[in-house]
Amino acid sequence: MPATGKQRLYAELGQQLAALLKGESYLVANAANMAALIYHGLPDLNWAGFYFAQGEHALVLGPFQGKPACMRIPWGQGVCGAAVVRRKAIVVPDVHEFPGHIACDPDSRSELVVPLIKDDRVLGVLDLDSPVRARFDQEDRAAVERLVAVFLDAIKDYSAGFSL
Ligand code: SME
Repeated sequence: MPATGKQRLYAELGQQLAALLKGESYLVANAANMAALIYHGLPDLNWAGFYFAQGEHALVLGPFQGKPACMRIPWGQGVCGAAVVRRKAIVVPDVHEFPGHIACDPDSRSELVVPLIKDDRVLGVLDLDSPVRARFDQEDRAAVERLVAVFLDAIKDYSAGFSL
């Protein structure tokens, strides 16, 4: 996608997300609508959704769009678990070249995972998958980090994410 088109698309998504989440602080509702907005708004995705941290060891599947996925991922495993431990977003151009990648859907080829960090605590991750190799670049990473910031701003009560 041309750079300006991409910027415009992410700017629109940011506005739509802020409008969707305005006035709602329940984590699951906001995560569900954010997953739907991203999945239907960004081209070439086959999965978009959340994993929430449970204790200090596991990620548990949260709201998503796409095919059914792995329900639990230990911290440190796969791209999602690595993003939690590194506390940094990870762009994987080709999942076949990421040691330990967890293949929930064999169609997934590239991936972007952004950790959800609020008050220095890792709440989970937002995981975007694509059947297209190298679908995500650093511009996507920065833009999705901004969307995650909108999400984190909106959730005042995130205890629901820890009592699943
Ligand atoms: N691919 C991920 C697992 C989650 S699914 O893609 C939905 C990973 O390796 O962390």
